[in-house]
Amino acid sequence: MDTGVIGWGFYVPDEVRTNKDLEKIVDTSDEWITTRTGIKERRIAPPEMAVSDMGVKAAKKALKKAGLTPFDIDLIIVATITPDMFFPSTACFVQAKLKARNIACFDVSAACSGFIYALKVAKGLIESGSYRNALVIGAEKLTAITDWQDRNTCVLFGDGAGAVVLGPVKKGGIKSVYLGADGSKSELLNMPGGGSRNPATHETVNQGMHYVKMKGNELFKFAVRLMAESAYKALRKAGLDKTDIKYLIPHQANSRIIWATARKLDLEKKQIFVNIHKYGNMSSASCAVALCESLSSKGVKKGDNLLLVAFGGGLTWGASVIEVS
Ligand code: COA
Repeated sequence: MDTGVIGWGFYVPDEVRTNKDLEKIVDTSDEWITTRTGIKERRIAPPEMAVSDMGVKAAKKALKKAGLTPFDIDLIIVATITPDMFFPSTACFVQAKLKARNIACFDVSAACSGFIYALKVAKGLIESGSYRNALVIGAEKLTAITDWQDRNTCVLFGDGAGAVVLGPVKKGGIKSVYLGADGSKSELLNMPGGGSRNPATHETVNQGMHYVKMKGNELFKFAVRLMAESAYKALRKAGLDKTDIKYLIPHQANSRIIWATARKLDLEKKQIFVNIHKYGNMSSASCAVALCESLSSKGVKKGDNLLLVAFGGGLTWGASVIEVS
């Protein structure tokens, strides 16, 4: 038996913040944001909603689609960089809210590549014989770590969650996962405050160290190269060629990065899944939500090969070929 996606579902908060809304907060314009990023609007979770709450909403839909109950789940992994708390893990909160059994629960932190990292971990644990059905969630409340006075970053991010149930499939499933990282570039994208390097103090808060810091321009160049390289490596691992790919499901950081990646892979426009205009960059949740939306779209059929590819803070990167089961 192979391991495949047997259920999927996503959740995004109701509140929509448009580029026009942002024009009232920082010195920006709908025109700048649209042309430079492709983003038109993003979703904002209310103050009382944490990442586990969004993850649970997505998970319930994924379980329903799989025809399973929380009792059938053997493992929960949440990919996130905006956990409910430093500890316990957000996966533990999800388990409690779902009333799942006392199964293994943990988080994966790999920024925007987190969902692909989590897929690899879950696939490995299932195929080692340890577990049968795993719930893998990519969920973020990035607006909680966004500096709403910094126009370089606040226009980019949004909140949401995507969940898949992985389990045994007769044919297809996750054919390959390729992962990589380069910690020497951590200064390009990080949140410096609150950890053991700079524990939270009045000083760190006054300096805004609890917000995302990003060197967008430098990241951009790495993003295009690493997304394309990762895609090729995942294809090679799966023994496939780019002509075998039906749809590319890229991390949604910037539409210019997405189109440049598509060009490098020589794929047609209609093969590229894009939802950045609706949600912005949701980090670990971006690929998860995009995968769920594409699996629910009419164009995607059993036997199609989907190529997920992501890149993010760390730096981290990864790609996965999934044959729709
Ligand atoms: N509205 C208006 N102007 C803005 C702006 C905004 N929201 N944000 C930045 N600018 C300005 C800058 O201040 C700069 O002005 P200057 O030339 O007077 O200094 C100008 O626009 C160009 O800034 P630059 O950073 O060079 O723009 P860019 O074309 O590189 O686009 C990003 C910026 C962030 C959209 C782009 O670099 C990007 O998407 N990078 C990758 C980010 C990423 O992938 N992050 C997550 C990784 S998962």
